[in-house]
Amino acid sequence: MKNEIAYQRCISPACGATFGVSETLTACKKCGGLLDIAYDWQRAQAPKQLSDFEKKWSQRRNPLCFSGVWRFKELLDFASDDQVVTIGEGQTLLRPEPEVAAYTGVKNVCLQYEGLNPSGSFKDNGMTAGFTHARVVGARKVACASTGNTSSSLAAYAAASAGAKGKLEAVVFVGSGRIAMGKLSQGLDYGARTIQIMGLFDDAMKRVKEVSASLGIYLLNSVNPFRLEGQKTIMFRVLEALNWDVPDWIVVPGGNLGNSSAFGKAFKELHDLGLIKRLPRLAVINASGANTLNRLYNEAGIRWNGGAYDKTKIDAFYQQMDAEHREANTIASAIEINRPVNLTKCLRALEWLNGVVTEVSDQEIIDAKAIVGRGGLGCEPASAASVAGTRRLVESGVIGRDERVVCIITGHQLKAANTTVGYHSLHGEELRHEFREFNIRNNPFANKPIQVRNDLQEILRVLAPQS
Ligand code: F0G
Repeated sequence: MKNEIAYQRCISPACGATFGVSETLTACKKCGGLLDIAYDWQRAQAPKQLSDFEKKWSQRRNPLCFSGVWRFKELLDFASDDQVVTIGEGQTLLRPEPEVAAYTGVKNVCLQYEGLNPSGSFKDNGMTAGFTHARVVGARKVACASTGNTSSSLAAYAAASAGAKGKLEAVVFVGSGRIAMGKLSQGLDYGARTIQIMGLFDDAMKRVKEVSASLGIYLLNSVNPFRLEGQKTIMFRVLEALNWDVPDWIVVPGGNLGNSSAFGKAFKELHDLGLIKRLPRLAVINASGANTLNRLYNEAGIRWNGGAYDKTKIDAFYQQMDAEHREANTIASAIEINRPVNLTKCLRALEWLNGVVTEVSDQEIIDAKAIVGRGGLGCEPASAASVAGTRRLVESGVIGRDERVVCIITGHQLKAANTTVGYHSLHGEELRHEFREFNIRNNPFANKPIQVRNDLQEILRVLAPQS
């Protein structure tokens, strides 16, 4: 059935080609650009005010009201209710963190914990929307390339899709190198066919596009515009937790740049609909070892420029990257990406939200991760880039100490437990050896385990109050 409210539209204002939601596309058929999901807001049932969404809270037995994504369905209304695939995603929370406040120098800082999703990362917000669209078009097989979280999420949704409408078969492509064990284990456990390619994420991404095109498999990477519709709701929940007040800053790690793109669209739409009066600013944080966006934005000066961005400069940058055999390398393996697929959408979001970009070292990431853990809800390394980046931006005077900042914590602590244990338990040469591929020299925030013989007196001595 034709959905009359939503359609797909090329993000290039010069092109602007439109396509129906029943088509499966990952790029504009006319110009090859990225696609958005656009809505006829006259016909969509957008609320008069954001607080109207609170009515859904009293209907939590309805899965569409329970889901932290679909309770905002009026703002991503591309499917009928019976097509929605939900596993209860989006039960996440926004929390002030005093340790993070002290560390970053911002008094009013909150962490948005997306690691609390069913598969342990923010990806579930997008995957529920992607699977819903896969159902709309009647897909049987779904695939993605991943640094580990997208694949875990896809595998979880495929596993849960068994039922009256038939299970979707999952194929995930991962690089051979750094995928964190927690993430690899999830895909295997959930039963996804897992292809480990000898190469990096970018190699896996290229192959999955080819394979999906040749075998007619539905692609669920964030080039899929429906996924980003789900990821918009992370911002709706941030606003909900702030009693619908807009913070001054949203700070997010940047990998494939799906989140930053989705956040830009979320706020732009709310603003255009008159549901918020002002826009927050956006800060996207790269790891220094995977800093394509930072280099293009801050060194090459690339801007969205109303859609007339300098493509020649971007192409030249990638040519040089290839000529120099430069490959991403960071302890934040989730964002170890050379060619972010949503680059142009992210540039647009940065323009809409008066954004900034910076990068942080692996040492800064791993230290910030330990600070986040001290609050009692930890994170994986990539997520801590948002906290490390906030600290940097405060030091350089970009973020004011009195501003209200929300850092997005994208993935759960247990995803990369080895890194956490290494940081806390090793020291000196041992630590440097463990993390020899990265420039990690010390662990100032380590909480070292205390080794004791199995002897009561010795244990009591260790636990005696220090004078
Ligand atoms: N944080 C985590 C924990 C991630 O897994 C990712 C991306 C990002 C941040 C970056 O988000 O791509 O929207 O800029 N992980 C992808 C994956 C690439 O395959 O799991 P982004």
